Amino acid sequence: MTAPKLSLTTTTADEATADAVIIGTVMDRERGEHASLAPGGEGIDAAFDGKLEEVLATLGATGKQDEVVKVPTMGRLPAALILAVGLGKGEITQDNVRRASGAAARALAGTDRAVTTLSAVDLQGAVEGTVLGAYRFVGYRSEPGDAPVARVDLVGPAEGTAKDHRATIKAATAIGEAVCTARDFVNTPPNDLFPAEFATRAAAIGKAAGLDVEILDEKALKKAGWGGVLGVGMGSSRPPRVLRLHYKGTKPRKRIALVGKGITFDTGGISIKPAANMDEMTSDMSGAAAIVATMVLAAKLKYPLEITATVPMAENMPSGAAYRPGDVLTMYGGKTVEVLNTDAEGRLILADAIVRACEDQPDYLIETATLTGAQIVALGKRTAGIMGAEEFRDRVAEIARATGEGGWAMPLPEELRSDLDSKLADLANVTGHRWGGMLAAGLFLREFVPDELPWAHIDVAGPAYNSAGPWGYTPKGGTGQPVRTLAAVLADIADNG
Ligand code: BES
Ligand code: MN
Ligand code: ZN
Repeated sequence: MTAPKLSLTTTTADEATADAVIIGTVMDRERGEHASLAPGGEGIDAAFDGKLEEVLATLGATGKQDEVVKVPTMGRLPAALILAVGLGKGEITQDNVRRASGAAARALAGTDRAVTTLSAVDLQGAVEGTVLGAYRFVGYRSEPGDAPVARVDLVGPAEGTAKDHRATIKAATAIGEAVCTARDFVNTPPNDLFPAEFATRAAAIGKAAGLDVEILDEKALKKAGWGGVLGVGMGSSRPPRVLRLHYKGTKPRKRIALVGKGITFDTGGISIKPAANMDEMTSDMSGAAAIVATMVLAAKLKYPLEITATVPMAENMPSGAAYRPGDVLTMYGGKTVEVLNTDAEGRLILADAIVRACEDQPDYLIETATLTGAQIVALGKRTAGIMGAEEFRDRVAEIARATGEGGWAMPLPEELRSDLDSKLADLANVTGHRWGGMLAAGLFLREFVPDELPWAHIDVAGPAYNSAGPWGYTPKGGTGQPVRTLAAVLADIADNG
């Protein structure tokens, strides 16, 4: 997928050569829920003799978030069409602009060139929203359909220099493209994206970005004792892998370990899942996809950090070779785990990866996974559950909300820990009851994290995959979450330590 070509325009929107002009609208209580023009639309309104709000009212525009109303210009502007996109009620946030820009980009499929004024309100939000909203995954269709909008010219904000604006556009485009990279991995079907293939493709883009790359195959995993990854991967004819990516910026301020769950398909294994919606388990490698995409982004944006990603990849299948409920696995580093449910496989591959990642003595550990259905029960499809060391957990949760991806700090209640005691091993992989399932998974992972290490676990079981219709900048299928949160946390550590 090619992102639209985005450039800063030197003309005003009403003079710009384009097929369509994008303007923002807001909900206005004083005007009885009719749309009012957002800042940036003044010149366009002037071309309509100040009557654009009247025209929009006639068309039923309300200004509600993501609403797209098309107005023909009948020769009043060089562009034939105005797209009036809703920014909703109240103060206009960066994510309002991102969402509106995403909805506009989606509505512009098949158009060659547009000019947007939303960039005058928030340049970063407009760029990210445009790249994310233009995303399509059509490689598996015989007929690809309308191409995404090819060019979008951006009206710059009043403050700041053209040089600043160009730097913002470059960085925001890179962030948007990283999210799309993660989406592509998630959307690739599980027959084509099995562990070895995932590792090879991810290593190729890592290498192209200048990262050091290492793939551990099943032989290397056996030799080093990756019992969790091997146990989970054993039921599949397509053996597991662990991918390691390393990035070192100039004068790195901190050392970061990243870990992401890469189950290329989760049937549940012998503790098999029900058939309904099992196809969505193609997305069970979303954490891994986000980590790989974030590593490529880190190299592109040259964060002054040293970052190592450890990405375990396995397919969880039932077969004569599969691991069983009742098995005891010896994990990387020597801890033993009694498997009581083979569908709680993510925590097993993550535990190995976390122990390995912490051997490098990172200053921070960030791990993300589509780990529990309980995350969706607790927080819904759009809000990630964030656990870990309290201070760092809260910092990551706040950043997640600032990016618009969303996230909420969740506890690791001590009273649940003993429910993970095993009758014969160091630990069991499930509690034997449903209560606090997301938190129990977090407590399981905590057993493998060194005391005192600032770590965060981001459960994106819901947010990583959109099984409903598209909205804002979020398409159906893989969403690319939590790439933007990871990028923002890295940028925050680079700035503030
Ligand atoms: N991959 C699933 C979690 C999941 C569920 C992700 C729905 C996305 C949507 C995970 O491996 C799993 O199966 N978890 C079990 C854990 C249980 C057996 C303790 C679950 O949540 O049911
Ligand atoms: Mn599972
Ligand atoms: Zn899973």
